[in-house]
Amino acid sequence: MNWRDFWNRDNPIYVNERHKVLHYDRIARGICDLIEQRDWLVLDHGSGEALSAATVAQHCGLLYLHDAAPNVQMRQHLRFDANPKIVVLSSASLDAIADHSLDMVVANSLAQYLTHAEFEALLDFWRRKLKIGGKLVLADILPKQTDMVADVTALLRFAWQGGFFFAACVGLVATFFSDYRKLRSTLGITSYDEHEIHVLLASHGFAGVRAGHNLGHNQTRMMFVARAQD
Ligand SMILES: C[S@@+](CC[C@H](N)C(=O)[O-])C[C@H]1O[C@@H](n2cnc3c(N)ncnc32)[C@H](O)[C@@H]1O
Repeated sequence: MNWRDFWNRDNPIYVNERHKVLHYDRIARGICDLIEQRDWLVLDHGSGEALSAATVAQHCGLLYLHDAAPNVQMRQHLRFDANPKIVVLSSASLDAIADHSLDMVVANSLAQYLTHAEFEALLDFWRRKLKIGGKLVLADILPKQTDMVADVTALLRFAWQGGFFFAACVGLVATFFSDYRKLRSTLGITSYDEHEIHVLLASHGFAGVRAGHNLGHNQTRMMFVARAQD
């Protein structure tokens, strides 16, 4: 099994439905804050199910969702095909987006599941599809120095605030015995330090800064906001 197979199945990342709903709600509200104009064309790349995509769509002109996992795409079609401001993209229709047409690309919690080469290929893709000056948001980037205690604490704090603390405790135990943990140790997960991201951004035509917060609940992970350069 590889990461794509993993994301194509039901997975233990969310400890229960409430966790999943609150997660996507938080991400959607964070994306809304990054949209500068109501007519923006936005791509959420590696979007997952994007349960709160309708909230994002209300704040922009059109929202493209793309996720590589076929089962995720199927659920997105069921949920969003009736929404005229959301377009679910297959890999072929993703490629067909007009060059220099996007105002913003968001990739939250994607880079860690890509090899360096895949990530660099996507940076080139985003650079081509974004308008000059268009915004690239890379969020939930795993730092080189991961801290398991901080990860657990962040989840438990989010769970406490969201009213799913007990489920989160059970979920942490389940994750320990899950495919996710096994895959993390066999396939690995890609991490970066802040300097590496700046170098990658610059060498692929972007200039960016690290944001003061992360979109997701875990603030030990990094977010970068970059602009496509001329
Ligand atoms: C950790 S989930 C993040 C989902 C969502 N962005 C969020 O914030 O919850 C990673 C997602 O990226 C998708 N993915 C992995 N590799 C991808 C690729 N090369 N292109 C598009 N999606 C990809 C997976 O199918 C999975 O749904």
